[in-house]
Amino acid sequence: MNINILRFDEIGSTNTEALEMARRGAAEGVAVLARRQSAGRGRLGRTWFAETDSAILFSIILRPRFELGRFPLLTLMSAVAVHDALETVAGIDCDIKWVNDVLVGEKKICGILAESTETPAGRAVVVGIGINLRASAFPPELAETATSVESETGVIVSGEGILQKLVGELSSNYAILATPVGDATIRESWTSRSSYAAGKLVRVEIGDDAIEGTTAGISDSGELRVRLHDDTIKTIQTGDVTRLRSI
Ligand code: BTN
Repeated sequence: MNINILRFDEIGSTNTEALEMARRGAAEGVAVLARRQSAGRGRLGRTWFAETDSAILFSIILRPRFELGRFPLLTLMSAVAVHDALETVAGIDCDIKWVNDVLVGEKKICGILAESTETPAGRAVVVGIGINLRASAFPPELAETATSVESETGVIVSGEGILQKLVGELSSNYAILATPVGDATIRESWTSRSSYAAGKLVRVEIGDDAIEGTTAGISDSGELRVRLHDDTIKTIQTGDVTRLRSI
C-alpha cells in the first residue's frame, strides 16, 4: 500500500475528512493528519479533544477486498501497529484493552476509531488514530485515566518518528491480513500484546446493559469472549470494557 499523508493545520475531524475523501474516490493509503481538530470524534459518539500539536491525529483510508465479517480485524491490526510504534520509537511498554484502546498501565495513551462507508469504488474503511503526545492532549479531569508519550518518557517528542513507524507498521500488518494465515497472525499478535485477552475480570457495558465475567480470548473475527459467572460464554461485538479488581 502506498501511503500519501495530507497534512492540515486545523480540520473538523480527520476521520470525517477521510470518509468524505473516500466517497469522492480517494485511493487506499490516502491519509489525513491534523495539528488540531475542531470536532474530533471518539467511539460511541463521544467527542475527542486535543490542543494543537499535543497529539498525533491521523486517519487512513483502506479499501479491503475481503468480506465485511473480517473488518473488525482491521481494528485489531491498527492497535497492534500503534503498540509496536510506541514501543520501538518511544520505548513505552503498552497494553491493549479490547477492542483498540492502547494503554500504559491502566491509562489510555491512544484511541482508535474505525468507520466504514460505501463509495462508488466499493466499501472503504477509515481507521482514525489519536495518540497523546503531551498531557495537553486530554482535559485535566482525565489525568487519572489518560497518559501521554511525554508523561511516560519525560522527553519532548515531535511525533514525526512515531508517525513514520506507525505508518510502516499499519502497512505491513495490512499486508499480513491479505495472506492465507493473515487472520490468525493478527489475532495472535493482538492476543500476545493484550493483558485483556484472557483471564481478566472485566465489566462490559453494552448500551444500557452490562455484564461481568472473565475474558476468554477473541473469536475468529476479533470479538471478545467473556466467561460469565454461570460459566457460559458471551461474545461481545461492541461495548466498553473496564477492569474489575478481584476482592
Ligand atoms: C476512542 O474513543 O477511543 C477513539 C478516539 C479516536 C480519536 C481519533 S483522533 C484522529 C481521528 N479523528 C477523529 O475524529 N477521531 C480519530
